Amino acid sequence: MPVWRKGPIKMNSNQSVPYLDLLAQMKPLRKEIDSAIAKTLDNCSFCLGPDVAQFEKDFARFCEAEHCVGLNTGTSALHIAMLLLGVGPGDEVVTTPFTFVATSWAISYVGAKPVFVDIDDATFNLNPSLVERAITPRTKAVLPVHLYGHPCDLEPLLAICRKHNLPLIEDAAQAHAAKYRGKTIGTFGAMSCFSFYPGKNLGAYGEGGALVTNSAAHAARARALRDHGSTQRYYHDEVGFNYRLEGIQGAVLGVKLKHLAKWTSERRRVAHRYHELLAGTPLQLPREADFAESAWHLYAVRHPRRDDLKKHLEANGIGCGLHYPLPVHLQKAYAQLGHKAGDFPVAEKAARECLSLPIYPELADEQIQRVATVIKQFFNK
Ligand SMILES: Cc1ncc(COP(=O)(O)O)c(C=O)c1O
Repeated sequence: MPVWRKGPIKMNSNQSVPYLDLLAQMKPLRKEIDSAIAKTLDNCSFCLGPDVAQFEKDFARFCEAEHCVGLNTGTSALHIAMLLLGVGPGDEVVTTPFTFVATSWAISYVGAKPVFVDIDDATFNLNPSLVERAITPRTKAVLPVHLYGHPCDLEPLLAICRKHNLPLIEDAAQAHAAKYRGKTIGTFGAMSCFSFYPGKNLGAYGEGGALVTNSAAHAARARALRDHGSTQRYYHDEVGFNYRLEGIQGAVLGVKLKHLAKWTSERRRVAHRYHELLAGTPLQLPREADFAESAWHLYAVRHPRRDDLKKHLEANGIGCGLHYPLPVHLQKAYAQLGHKAGDFPVAEKAARECLSLPIYPELADEQIQRVATVIKQFFNK
């Protein structure tokens, strides 16, 4: 059961820093949110409806894309992306083992096989230099993830996709507003998939997701697939799903989207402050590649004694998280693929060493300083 004020609350609550604090974000927006929700209730537009339609327009514009299709989750967006590309049983999709498992679920949902490729040690994202050798005649798509909000290196990946005539899909679930070479991510590939899970940089007050694309044909079919495969009520052209975005979530997202650019710069402030305060500690700090403007969904530091550091932070009232402790290829759910420890050593090492520190737009400088002080105490012990 998710808790939206995550992390231990210490006796001396001035000293505690929650890992995530959605209440702090909600408070100043509360009136705006309340009246947006009240409008949806007055309209009785609970499933899709005008608020979702307006949000779709606004989010498409934000991503500099032609179309946005609102969906119930990011996982559904990835599933629909697979269907739109005709990926099916016997096909392969090249992706990263270092991600939230939903990335590869979508591949499995359509009966295809996730083919994992190790990550780049500096960015935690799919390593473009390893992708080409994973391509076979069965490969149908390449599905990189902009993990932690840091864009993956799209140019070399797109060059490989062009050479092999493969579509690229961006898993942008963690990367709203991130930029690759100065351009907002979301339209580099054939389509991109966003999550609006509450803890995301743009989070609903419930579940939410979207598929963003410049293709009118893909958008139209995605709209039908999310609504039981129909464009006309009670006429079903293909087997579809109930993947509709709720009206109330459309209203909430519409309000929150107006703040996303400001929140992203606040996240950048927090990241830069951590860089300053933690420089010189034994931690390996996350850095933006020269092509990237990260959305700083997460700030993941690395250290071989990660588990001890986590205990120390928690004992001192600092919330922190593991993203992700077990790479996808070693999950029980994928045992049938026959992978073993050592197959993707860079991802496996990252899984052992990464620790996510609190990062959100509302994090005050004193809180950042507190996190840094407690980390320094750990290393000075
Ligand atoms: C990288 C990545 N892909 C996909 C998803 C799935 O999104 P959702 O939780 O909205 O289904 C998530 C969400 O946690 C994610 O982080």
